[in-house]
Amino acid sequence: AYRTAAEPDCESARMNATAKASLDYPLDALRAQFPALQQSVHGRPLAYLDNAATTQKPESVLAALNHYYRHDNANVHRAIHALSARATHDYEGARDKVQAFIGAARREEVIFTRGTTESINLVAQSFARPRFGPGDEILITQLEHHSNIVPWQLVCEQTGAILRFAPVDDQGALDMQAFRQLLGERTRLVAVAESSNAIGTRNPIAELTRLAHAADCPILVDAAQGVPHRQIDVETLGVDFMAFSSHKMYGPTGIGVLYGREKWLEAMPPWQGGGDMIETVSLAGSTWNSLPYKFEAGTPNIAGAIGLGAAVDFLEQTGLEQIAAHEHALLQYGTRRLQEVDGLHLIGTAADKVAILSFIMDGMHAHDIGTLLDEEGIAVRTGHHCAMPLMARCGVAATARASLACYNSHAEIDCLIDTLHRIRRLFKI
Ligand code: ALA
Repeated sequence: AYRTAAEPDCESARMNATAKASLDYPLDALRAQFPALQQSVHGRPLAYLDNAATTQKPESVLAALNHYYRHDNANVHRAIHALSARATHDYEGARDKVQAFIGAARREEVIFTRGTTESINLVAQSFARPRFGPGDEILITQLEHHSNIVPWQLVCEQTGAILRFAPVDDQGALDMQAFRQLLGERTRLVAVAESSNAIGTRNPIAELTRLAHAADCPILVDAAQGVPHRQIDVETLGVDFMAFSSHKMYGPTGIGVLYGREKWLEAMPPWQGGGDMIETVSLAGSTWNSLPYKFEAGTPNIAGAIGLGAAVDFLEQTGLEQIAAHEHALLQYGTRRLQEVDGLHLIGTAADKVAILSFIMDGMHAHDIGTLLDEEGIAVRTGHHCAMPLMARCGVAATARASLACYNSHAEIDCLIDTLHRIRRLFKI
């Protein structure tokens, strides 16, 4: 190991934590709800700082999954027996929870998908593909995740439409002047991230929505990195589509949501065909079920939806305002402390950010930083974070990324900083 016996280890960093969560914030009680956080990794207490990739799951979500499979396991919408009725009740109950959580006007506007990626592909194939033609434009930004780039590239190949990118500035903030200029008569759709998964920049969604609508153009928001961190109300914002994933908001993997305004969803053809999405089928043709089922072909991820409902309960019980304040304090603390490390450069310093700290270090590859941090039980993601155009704009191939969640602590940041100092000293960077 590169750590010498004389040097303080992460536990001492934790004990010497120079800042603490607000006294009102129930950090210990929150952490106690997450079994995966209670482990050691390579003999060190786990500091899980890879929440933009996926969050850990609280007991309540694990219990909901367990209960469904142990007691209620049956298919939904199909049978009249008791188990199917219970499964249907809980599956549809999860839709009601999501509807209330995002402030959707109608439950029919909440479509369960496999996740953000599938939600965006659904809009690309069912909304954009039938409508767009040569010369039409789709406007996205330079800071998008690949899942909000590639589906549009595919649709452009299929229709002859053109993909435009609004640039970001040197801090990683969206260039609003350029965005306004690119939003033109030919723009048929705006698709933007609420927050960048790679560098944390938050986009001004209310303003972008206002501009898009003024140009008579609908807007899709990739809220995968937004929904776990603050209240996002689709009616207040006025967005047309919003995509997000359960697994980044303390719920299970393999389930997510497409929110869409009823007027658009009604006008869109189904994307996938199969059971449950039909009203009638004959050999001559088929007719479609009503919303939301028109877009939920096949047996859905029933357990996943129920688990997502439990995750929504968890976020509401914890309180998104409280979570946002805690994560903001962590972001400010981490930003300040990372700058103490010689040779470290923060990538992404926009004024408005979610709690994502992306950085590089002189003379070290990001993957080596990740490996050395892992030896100390500190989990970060390294690489291009599925945002290669943004990495190119920032002039880097890869970063190390610490992404924070409601259960992270100032002490874990101290531990990260201690370890980075040690790496720098021992490798004489
Ligand atoms: N989109 C996920 C991340 O940012 C996987 O790590």
